[in-house]
Amino acid sequence: MEKKSLDWANLDFSYRKTDKSYVSNYINGAWDGGQLTSDSTVSINECAGVFQYSQSCFEGLKAYTTEDGRIVAFRPDMNAARMENGAKRLEMPVFPKERFVDAVMKTVKANAAYVPPYGYGATLYIRPFMFGSSPVIGVAPAKDYQFRILTTPVGPYFKGGVRSLTLCVSDFDRAAPNGTGNIKAGLNYAMSIHAIVTAHKNGFDENMFLDAATHTKVEETGGANFIFVTKDNKVVTPKSDSILPSITRISLLHIAKEYLNLEVEEREIPLTEVKDFVECGLCGTAAVISPVGKIVDHGNEIVMANSAQGMGPVTKRLYDTLTGIQIGRIEAPKGWIQVVE
Ligand code: PLP
Ligand code: COI
Repeated sequence: MEKKSLDWANLDFSYRKTDKSYVSNYINGAWDGGQLTSDSTVSINECAGVFQYSQSCFEGLKAYTTEDGRIVAFRPDMNAARMENGAKRLEMPVFPKERFVDAVMKTVKANAAYVPPYGYGATLYIRPFMFGSSPVIGVAPAKDYQFRILTTPVGPYFKGGVRSLTLCVSDFDRAAPNGTGNIKAGLNYAMSIHAIVTAHKNGFDENMFLDAATHTKVEETGGANFIFVTKDNKVVTPKSDSILPSITRISLLHIAKEYLNLEVEEREIPLTEVKDFVECGLCGTAAVISPVGKIVDHGNEIVMANSAQGMGPVTKRLYDTLTGIQIGRIEAPKGWIQVVE
């Protein structure tokens, strides 16, 4: 297979159409067999549930080229499970987990020419998504749904590659207690768009959202979870029912414990404690681990001493191990790496 001639070293995080997408329709109470398509347009009724009441959820994962030239996907079963939770919460039908993983593999294989070659730090971003496709006018779930997977080759999520980010503590809320913050619903992201545009206008890279009930505890950003490091090298990450259970974070906690012998804590983090940490990073599929140098809380600057000028030493060890596993340089825990045949 001949690779496409793209400027692999300079890809940003944007959409670029690839050859094939996957599509399956849920009609009359059942999913059809699904197929690959070259058509990247979707034609549905103007009154479809997704347009009227935002009935949609999505996932994000990546395919990598390993050092020895294989194409692999990272923990697609975890994305399948998370999408199942999202579908149930949004009264959508579940796309079966085995079919989800199989569809991811088929879509990546069909777009192998777009999987960035080894060594460029770029990846094929995989975006499974599902939406209500039949008309609804009273508030209700749609009857019919479409599940799709698109792929797009990407580079770093934050412009300028790996550099320390500056965040602001947001006055907006991302997710309510007992709301949908813990699933990957499109509506959570619609909620956050005004907040990110405002943050950018004010010169910040991202928002630090606090818990909506008390505005005292650290939650997450619009597209990644937080990882903090204490002075004595403990890895601490927020625990909350209204943040997205990041597969990257879950993987990093395992790596910290099992590969790096670090102590880890998943617990509530008061905003007042943030000044005591020495490193901060944003973790997620798109963000990988992006270092945070400064958090500005209404004019009060909190500097992360060891991640102010790029990744801190503990974050770097986590990053090297995670990416080492993803590109096949470090042995992965069982089941983390799925080879695209
Ligand atoms: N939090 C939010 C709000 C996200 O959108 C994402 C991205 O998927 C994450 C966290 C990180 O999750 P994951 O590591 O599974 O990509
Ligand atoms: C991901 O990391 O996969 C996401 O969906 C986050 C999004 C902000 C791009």
